Amino acid sequence: MTADPNWQDSRATSGRDAARSVVIDNIGLLVTNDPALGDGPLGIRRDAAVVITDGLVEEVTGAGAVADTRIDAEGMCVIPGFVDSHSHLVFAGDRAEEFAARMAGQAYDGGGIRVTTDATRNASSIELDRLVTERLRRAHLGGTTTMEIKSGYGLNVADEARTLQVAEGHTTETTFLGAHLVPHEYLGRPDDYIDLVCGDMLAAAAPHSRWIDAFCEEGAFDADQCRRVLEAGRDAGLGLRLHGNQLGPGSGVRLAVEMGCASVDHCTYLTDDDIDALAGSDTVATLLPAADFSTRQPYPDARRLLDAGATVAIAANCNPGSSYTTSIPFCLALAVRDMHMTSDEALAAATIGGATALGRTDVGRLSPRARGHLAILDAPSHHHFAYQPGQNLIRLTIGPYG
Ligand code: NIG
Repeated sequence: MTADPNWQDSRATSGRDAARSVVIDNIGLLVTNDPALGDGPLGIRRDAAVVITDGLVEEVTGAGAVADTRIDAEGMCVIPGFVDSHSHLVFAGDRAEEFAARMAGQAYDGGGIRVTTDATRNASSIELDRLVTERLRRAHLGGTTTMEIKSGYGLNVADEARTLQVAEGHTTETTFLGAHLVPHEYLGRPDDYIDLVCGDMLAAAAPHSRWIDAFCEEGAFDADQCRRVLEAGRDAGLGLRLHGNQLGPGSGVRLAVEMGCASVDHCTYLTDDDIDALAGSDTVATLLPAADFSTRQPYPDARRLLDAGATVAIAANCNPGSSYTTSIPFCLALAVRDMHMTSDEALAAATIGGATALGRTDVGRLSPRARGHLAILDAPSHHHFAYQPGQNLIRLTIGPYG
């Protein structure tokens, strides 16, 4: 898939006469993520309105604007829709017992990926599509309007291609993750499996993928194997991302920076050198606090990353093993309470940070020509995500998946 998702839905509009416009009016606090439009890095406006024409933001203005349709925000807060840049939504089966065992003291080691692979291979594409649709519906109710979806539970040529075809029915942000774990049939032969991933599997996956990813971790794949996967993906025209430093210190972050990955995800165990490398690069550090929560791992040191100048994203990482949630509001509460991010930093990380991790400029912000994807909160400010944890604070999500 070579299409650039930026602006792909924009249509030339000759003005209000020919276009359908909607105004979100009477916004008490509007987060635009465009410093040119308001105060501070979040570009905050008070008593505001957003006019959306044919799906794109036409104007950010004062309350009282006029359009074909009016939605009254009743003085509440409006934010850009969440951009969830890391998910594994195409899966079947259930690993609740693995979770229960973990809560009783067992460590997470990623081995359960093979359990999900068995279940996913046995599920029809219609069933997988139904499961993805339901997970996206829940994400949307929680304010998410852009979602990256990885493969990684097929782990053979046909099932990786099939799961990516299911994913591309829902998002342009599809990621080929054949290098998720060595499947049963290749146990003890990881390099042979990497040959397959870089050969026939990539050839079958690439037409349905925008990105390629690999799990760089002890017990999964080492840096040399991941480098081979990323190089093959780059040669096939895919963008690069990497799972790294999730279960212990390792070479994932440095490999991601060396290879110019758009994002390295997890970043739970970082050395000073890792942080310096991220801060001096364009690679986004994508933090997945719900995974650290569900695996009883420490949280990443977001404060040090931010203070060093790294770009940080927050994503939910919905998957059946380490993080079975699509709730970005839950992640925001963890980020503020346990990762010492401010509410402003956490919100930015889950909106414009996620967009940056996906190389997108048309989402994650509410400025003219961006997509009109937003969430109206049942709260006067975004601080309430951490202040009222566990509450449903999304009154209305405007954007896809609805
Ligand atoms: O991002 N770490 C690798 N992949 C997923 C977990 C996969 C699973 O346990 O099924 C993650 O956490």
